Amino acid sequence: MGIRAVLLLVVSVSLTEAAGCIPTTSPWCYKNSTLPEEDFMCKWDKRNPKENQTHTLFIWDSEKKTFIMFANSGDHSEKYILLEELITTRKMDIWVQTQVGNLTCNSSKISVILECLVKYSAPQITSMKRSAGILSLTLGKPKDRKGVKYEIRWRERGSEWQNATFETEDSTIQDSYKLHLQKQTIYQIQLRRQAKLQPHLCKDSLQTLWSDWSPVRDVPLEIRLPLVKCWVEKKWMNGTRHINLTWDEPSAEESVGGVEYKLNINVWPCEKPKRKEKLTLDRAYKTSITYSEARISIIATNKVGSSPPVEIIIPAVKHLSTPIKGPGNVNISNVTHESAVVSWLSIPVAEQRGFLLHYLIWISGQGNTTLHKVQANETSFKIKNLHPGASYTVSIAGETMAGKGPNSTVNFETHSEEMGLSWQDQTILSVCVVALLCTIICSVAVRRGSRRNQYISAAP
Ligand SMILES: *[C@@H]1O[C@H](CO)[C@@H](O)[C@H](O)[C@H]1NC(C)=O
Ligand SMILES: *[C@@H]1O[C@H](CO)[C@@H](O)[C@H](O)[C@H]1NC(C)=O
Ligand SMILES: *[C@@H]1O[C@H](CO)[C@@H](O)[C@H](O)[C@H]1NC(C)=O
Ligand SMILES: *[C@@H]1O[C@H](CO)[C@@H](O)[C@H](O)[C@H]1NC(C)=O
Ligand SMILES: *[C@@H]1O[C@H](CO)[C@@H](O)[C@H](O)[C@H]1NC(C)=O
Ligand SMILES: *[C@@H]1O[C@H](CO)[C@@H](O)[C@H](O)[C@H]1NC(C)=O
Ligand SMILES: *[C@@H]1O[C@H](CO)[C@@H](O)[C@H](O)[C@H]1NC(C)=O
Ligand SMILES: *[C@@H]1O[C@H](CO)[C@@H](O)[C@H](O)[C@H]1NC(C)=O
Ligand SMILES: *[C@@H]1O[C@H](CO)[C@@H](O)[C@H](O)[C@H]1NC(C)=O
Ligand SMILES: *[C@@H]1O[C@H](CO)[C@@H](O)[C@H](O)[C@H]1NC(C)=O
Ligand SMILES: *[C@@H]1O[C@H](CO)[C@@H](O)[C@H](O)[C@H]1NC(C)=O
Ligand SMILES: *[C@@H]1O[C@H](CO)[C@@H](O)[C@H](O)[C@H]1NC(C)=O
Repeated sequence: MGIRAVLLLVVSVSLTEAAGCIPTTSPWCYKNSTLPEEDFMCKWDKRNPKENQTHTLFIWDSEKKTFIMFANSGDHSEKYILLEELITTRKMDIWVQTQVGNLTCNSSKISVILECLVKYSAPQITSMKRSAGILSLTLGKPKDRKGVKYEIRWRERGSEWQNATFETEDSTIQDSYKLHLQKQTIYQIQLRRQAKLQPHLCKDSLQTLWSDWSPVRDVPLEIRLPLVKCWVEKKWMNGTRHINLTWDEPSAEESVGGVEYKLNINVWPCEKPKRKEKLTLDRAYKTSITYSEARISIIATNKVGSSPPVEIIIPAVKHLSTPIKGPGNVNISNVTHESAVVSWLSIPVAEQRGFLLHYLIWISGQGNTTLHKVQANETSFKIKNLHPGASYTVSIAGETMAGKGPNSTVNFETHSEEMGLSWQDQTILSVCVVALLCTIICSVAVRRGSRRNQYISAAP
């Protein structure tokens, strides 16, 4: 074996050994708030996640030249460190040693004052209100209730972010911010924040940490348009009625991020009003109410505000009364020798005085009266099994739960069985008609002539 081969072997062995221990990224350490009792967390990324490796976090006091701690985290790539084990107001060097088999390697180190490493949780938008081109945001305070520095960014969908920063105060219950936006445009917004640190300690600290960005929130247009509504009613004999209410969808720009509807239902039975409140995502609402008046108001709420309420009044069904009128325009048509069709105009709702159950139709003739019930939505009825050439009386009335209303009455006569006339009969009939007409015309003319004569004879 030549010297070259030996060298090659040594190099390759040392290379494989080096490849066996790949250092992690340098650690990043922070606490969750500026609270003095807050513990710390250090995290790092493994660059070689496959190997069976153990990590040790080293913290070195560079001023006192002593180790503060070596904390073994096993295979994990983070280590929770209790505050008591640390000195947080002096500069520390921190790094991670990795061990693979009996090889070790170190990450590069960071040099930090731990007290200056505060990373808040991402901000939370607790409410958005959009009005007259201004978006008013309220934001949850951080855990330590301190004033913080925010960065906000916003964009129209698919465009570049624009950004601004603002600071908040310690003493408030919530943080807030007003952002000017163009009125007729929908936006997306996002925020992050950082702690205001002790200036004397952290003035040259470059590691001021931002929180993560809050999730992107869509900002719809203000909900303004009153909702178009429509209601359908179905009444039952037992004194309840089903109400089906539907309303239109707000525009897509107003609906971004979702719309919720709040319904307020007030029903007045005899004693005291009953109130019901209901939140729904549907654009329809079904309920059962009494025959008394009911008022329903609907408010649409999107991510930036609420519409004005839409008030719907469902009138009472006055079920204690009967119709004050019979059906109008009762008419007989299609008369044959044995049938006829009776038609009518339905009784107007205002004159029904209650929920119309049906129409009652009496047919009287030939010493006989028959009664038919016809559904309230019908406006005609075919009368069958009549006698030819007979006269009949038809009476129609509406009936509510309280009883029947007044009759509308009409008379008619059925055709006689043999209605067809031969051409001879027709000729005779026409001759008779012509003769009759002549007689009438002649007699009129004769009378006029004699009157004129009387007038002339009376003249001097
Ligand atoms: C910070 O907060 C998160 C979420 O509440 C928690 O999981 C984590 O352990 C906290 N870190 C420290 C250092 O307290
Ligand atoms: C990793 O190392 C531990 C302890 O050295 C050992 O018990 C374990 O079996 C190893 N796992 C693998 C996948 O090599
Ligand atoms: C290194 O590990 C090998 C086995 O993988 C073992 O034989 C050797 O003794 C170890 N060397 C040291 C210095 O621990
Ligand atoms: C890693 O750091 C430790 C602690 O300072 C030291 O003892 C060790 O020699 C270092 N290892 C390497 C490979 O630099
Ligand atoms: C906006 O963002 C850019 C890029 O991140 C940054 O350089 C700039 O300082 C930010 N402006 C404000 C007002 O925060
Ligand atoms: C009234 O009748 C309708 C239909 O039969 C039924 O759905 C409803 O529950 C009834 N209401 C009462 C109070 O009995
Ligand atoms: C009420 O609306 C639902 C759909 O929203 C429909 O299926 C149902 O038939 C309606 N009922 C009445 C009485 O109109
Ligand atoms: C009766 O009905 C017929 C056919 O529909 C119509 O031509 C006629 O005008 C109606 N008469 C009255 C009084 O409504
Ligand atoms: C009357 O009779 C004609 C022809 O038979 C029919 O087309 C029409 O629908 C009938 N009218 C009614 C009101 O039933
Ligand atoms: C009266 O009506 C009934 C039932 O339609 C029928 O059987 C009976 O013959 C009718 N009487 C007369 C006198 O038409
Ligand atoms: C009346 O309502 C019934 C069912 O409730 C239906 O079958 C019928 O077609 C309706 N008639 C008219 C004229 O709408
Ligand atoms: C309507 O006419 C029917 C049949 O003639 C009669 O029985 C009924 O009492 C009348 N109703 C009223 C309110 O006059």
